Amino acid sequence: MSSKYFSILLLLLLVFVLSSHAAKVVEVGKICKLSTNPSFCTALLNSNRGGKDLVSLTQYTIDVTCANLTNTVTLIKSLIAKSAHDPKTNDHYKTCLYYFEIDGGALDTMESTQQSLNKGDYNGVNLGAGAIPNFMDDCILGDDGPDPNLSPFPDTSILPKYLDVIEKVAEVTLILTNLLLGD
Ligand SMILES: *[C@@H]1O[C@H](CO)[C@@H](O)[C@H](O)[C@H]1NC(C)=O
Repeated sequence: MSSKYFSILLLLLLVFVLSSHAAKVVEVGKICKLSTNPSFCTALLNSNRGGKDLVSLTQYTIDVTCANLTNTVTLIKSLIAKSAHDPKTNDHYKTCLYYFEIDGGALDTMESTQQSLNKGDYNGVNLGAGAIPNFMDDCILGDDGPDPNLSPFPDTSILPKYLDVIEKVAEVTLILTNLLLGD
């Protein structure tokens, strides 16, 4: 075999190896059909300017979650300052902040979720994203016990809206990692 053909063969082999390891791409429409809120999911994933493969999209939703958590912590701190005259409301916001900042809370969870993605541990990412709505519910209900008598604090601030966005983004992360795990 001439060395020319050998190089071509080697090149074809390389292309084959690279493409078989290529990141998996799934259409946004197909991903978001699995969401309880397809329009939110579609807008979110289409706002990504990075890679279109599942791992890149997962990285993007983690980035958005972390940015949203940071914004929300800033908001909660300002709500705590503003409600100093109203002990009940003030307590509610302080409890919310607690569930964000406590060891193993929302911020910690997203940090370990990022580390899981870095390691290619999609199951870990799945577990992390799955825990996020619980922290948001803890914040809304002011307690983490499964008490059927608990009702949401009558929060008239923009906070419930922020929490809702975080929950919706977490759902998209779950869908993406389920697709990665289903490989
Ligand atoms: C969440 O993050 C996205 C992307 O950074 C941003 O567009 C959106 O305004 C944020 N929402 C909240 C509630 O922080």
